[in-house]
Order: sequence, then C-alpha cells, then structure tokens
Amino acid sequence: MDHFLVTGGAGFIGSALVRGLLAKGADRVVVVDSLLTGYERNLDEVRGAVDFHRADIRDYDAVRRAMEGVNVVFHEAAIPSVPRSINDPIPSHDVNINGTFNVLRAAKDAGVRRVIYAASSSAYGDTLVLPKVETMRALPKSPYAAQKLMGEYYMSVWASCFGLETISLRYFNVFGPRQDPTSQYSGVLSLFITAILNRRTPTIFGDGETSRDFTYVEDVVGLNLRAAEAPATASGKVFNAGNGGRITLNEAWALLQKFEGVSIPPIYGPTRPGDVRDSQADTTAAVRELGHSPQVSFEDGLRKTLEWYRATTKL
Ligand SMILES: NC(=O)c1ccc[n+]([C@@H]2O[C@H](COP(=O)([O-])OP(=O)(O)OC[C@H]3O[C@@H](n4cnc5c(N)ncnc54)[C@H](O)[C@@H]3O)[C@@H](O)[C@H]2O)c1
Repeated sequence: MDHFLVTGGAGFIGSALVRGLLAKGADRVVVVDSLLTGYERNLDEVRGAVDFHRADIRDYDAVRRAMEGVNVVFHEAAIPSVPRSINDPIPSHDVNINGTFNVLRAAKDAGVRRVIYAASSSAYGDTLVLPKVETMRALPKSPYAAQKLMGEYYMSVWASCFGLETISLRYFNVFGPRQDPTSQYSGVLSLFITAILNRRTPTIFGDGETSRDFTYVEDVVGLNLRAAEAPATASGKVFNAGNGGRITLNEAWALLQKFEGVSIPPIYGPTRPGDVRDSQADTTAAVRELGHSPQVSFEDGLRKTLEWYRATTKL
C-alpha cells in the first residue's frame, strides 16, 4: 500500500482525511502541521498510527524529511479564511502560496508520486451562471481566493514541467465534526450550530440569501481517496469537490431551529468584502473522472454534525 502524508492533518478536514486513510487500511499516516489553527486532540483516537511532525510547511528541510518514503501527499495546510486574508494578508499569502510551493518542491525532491491539493471554490468568484463548472474563468474576489488559485496553477505546472502527478480538488464549504467554532473566522455552520445549542442569536452577514453548496466532510474525504487512486490521466487537472446543492444561510438557520424546536431570529450584519454571493458545484467531472459522487445530503450531514457538537461541546 502507498505511504501517505497529510499537511494540515491536525485541522478539521486533514484529521478526517487521516481517519479515512487509516480506515482504508493504511498502517501509518505522516502528518505535518504547525498547529496554527489545528489541534493535536483532533487526532486523539488515531494518534498511535500517526507520525506527527509539528512543522511549518514553509520549512523546506522539515517537510522534505517528513516526506521520506511517502508516495502520496494530501496538501491541506493553509490559512483558510477569506476575511482573515483581507484583515491580515501577509501571513496568508506566505503560507498559502510560498508554503504550497515548498510542499511541491519537497515532494518532487523526495520522489513522491502524487500530490492532491485542497483548492477552493472561492477561486470562481461571482459567476453569472450556476452551477459552477471547472471550465469557467476564475475570478477571485479576495486574497485567499487568489492564493488558492495560485496553488492550483502551481499544481498543474509541477505536473507539466516536473513530472509530479497533481490533482486539485476545489472544496465547496465543507462542514462536519471537528470544525473549529471558536474563531471569528470559523465556518458558518460551526458558528450556527454552537449558537443554536447555546440558544444564542447568530449574526448573519448580508441578507441571509447568500447561498452555499455545503459539503459534508466525509464526502470530501471520499473524493480525496478516489483522487489518490485515479489514473494518471487525471493529473494536472482541477475538479469540483462539492455536493451539487445550494442552500441559503436563512434556510440553514431555519433547519437548525426546526431540529431543535426553537425560534431564534438572527441578527443581520453588513455584507463582508470578499464574500461570494452564490455557490454551487457542477459535480459531473469529479463523478466521471474520479468516480465519486456525494453520498450525504445536506440535511443528514447537518443532523450528524449537530449531534457531534452536542456530544462534545460544553454548553
Ligand atoms: N473548510 C472549508 O470549507 C474549505 C473550503 C475550501 C478549501 N478549504 C481548504 O481545505 C484545507 C483545510 O481547511 P480546514 O477547513 O480543515 O482548516 P483548518 O484550519 O482546520 O486546517 C488547516 C490546518 O493547516 C495547519 N496550518 C496552517 N498553517 C500552517 C503552516 N504554515 N504549516 C503547517 N501547518 C499549517 C493548521 O494548523 C490546521 O491544522 C485548507 O487548505 C483550506 O484552504 C477548506
């Protein structure tokens, strides 16, 4: 079996990916994470099967060392937030672009076969047409979106110039257990769920009609596992990693109120710069070329996530 490394493996999606790889039969998984926004506790039950390197992806020597004997790298490490990239653009530029460059350079030097990259649907910006298809021109609206797009370009260039297989997966608003709800930059559903469990009023930026293709984390893990096994013809390409649906923030909050049997009207705040209005993935290419279609509906994923937070969060 291949040997795997997950950058950002102590984060929300990275730690789910580590679990997915172990469940699929990997003996051990190497993780490189600086713990900037991730937590070692995210790996608690699987810690014995993880070679954990607390390191920064901008540190070439540390990343190169961790990649010894590795065949497939999942590159999840990033500073992952649109507003954070606007409020504090230098660190996100440095980690998301220079860090990604470093991961690719180390992967090539270490003889890694394939790198699978956590790209972002934010690269599309506001398209005139929905759903969003990979052939559309990217129109990033924030430093974060531009940085993640640059990562995709580097992925495809490493495939064409350096013979390293690469696949970029454009994630669409991933949600599920272990998403950190404690920061102003946290994913909206983690904030909604902790608000409803505490019977608190959430703030919605804009009129709440902003829509998102919320994708359950296990579906994103499933697509990554497929990408690791896909034929080399998929190399150098970009695929949407979405659910294919579209839910407004008002609908998501209404559903949570229904689940909990409560009525808590939200507060509406100003629209945030850099935010995309609507988002929905065309999943055709991922289904056709990677053989994965989403399995978990928004409603089922939201229920599972709510129950996970209820069981693990001190209220
Ligand atoms: N969550 C989403 O909806 C979403 C959507 C699109 C793309 N993505 C991408 O998916 C990836 C994972 O995001 P997430 O939601 O799990 O976020 P997360 O913050 O939980 O995970 C990111 C991880 O990267 C680590 N990290 C940050 N800077 C680092 C550095 N310099 N060196 C080493 N490790 C570093 C953090 O400590 C953290 O564990 C990111 O690349 C993000 O851009 C996420």
